[in-house]
Amino acid sequence: MKIYEAKDYREMSRKAANILSAQIILKPDCVLGLATGSTPIGTYDQLVDWYKKGDLDFAEVKTVNLDEYRGLARDNDQSYYYFMHSHLFDRVNIKPENTNVPDGMAEDPAAECERYEALIQSLGGVDIQLLGIGHNGHIGFNEPGTSFAKETHCVDLTQRTIEANKRFFPSVDDVPKQAISMGIKTIMRAKKILLIASGEEKADIVAKAFFGPVVPEVPASILQMHDDVVVVADSAALSKIPR
Ligand code: F6R
Repeated sequence: MKIYEAKDYREMSRKAANILSAQIILKPDCVLGLATGSTPIGTYDQLVDWYKKGDLDFAEVKTVNLDEYRGLARDNDQSYYYFMHSHLFDRVNIKPENTNVPDGMAEDPAAECERYEALIQSLGGVDIQLLGIGHNGHIGFNEPGTSFAKETHCVDLTQRTIEANKRFFPSVDDVPKQAISMGIKTIMRAKKILLIASGEEKADIVAKAFFGPVVPEVPASILQMHDDVVVVADSAALSKIPR
């Protein structure tokens, strides 16, 4: 695992975007695994900037997103489908048919999970997977205690994650209680993983996940076992790692 320290959120975003753009330049038809949440917004903005300057071309890029809430339609502004379109897909020349987000409205969620997992395999797997990290160590919606052997599956969100997400909804009761998420096994199959973290409130979990024991109670800790992981984090998020 390589850890790159950035001085602040802006520099973290720029470094992360550099790594993703290098992937796109080296393999124009690469498969990017993408994440939502507040952390990657600056990274997506930077990629859009470089695209607008003519330095990046998304014409052949394919994407698979980590997760989606269950029960939110695509046009709901809190759905991850909506997030990805407004922060990235609608701002670059990616082909809509090359972008993939799990279908949170699927009537049969088990069948949707199977379809999504098969889709990732059919694309030849993920070349680089972008991840954020939850305060409890979750990656995707793989909450503490989730088996490392899970592939794409339907998840019950923990109270802590529901609380953390309620800022985006009118009330806590409006926060979806379930999601469809790539599993840890799916994530670990990615050829390369890029995890980004920013802010002091991530400092405890970053130290625990990357310098503590590898246990299902800290889902991100499994990344210590992957042979190509890059963590790009700002100084605040790295303030509690052993030096
Ligand atoms: C998002 C996702 C989540 C977030 C995590 C951190 O697709 O799967 O695991 O990466 O909750 O969220 P932020 O970046 O908002 O702190």
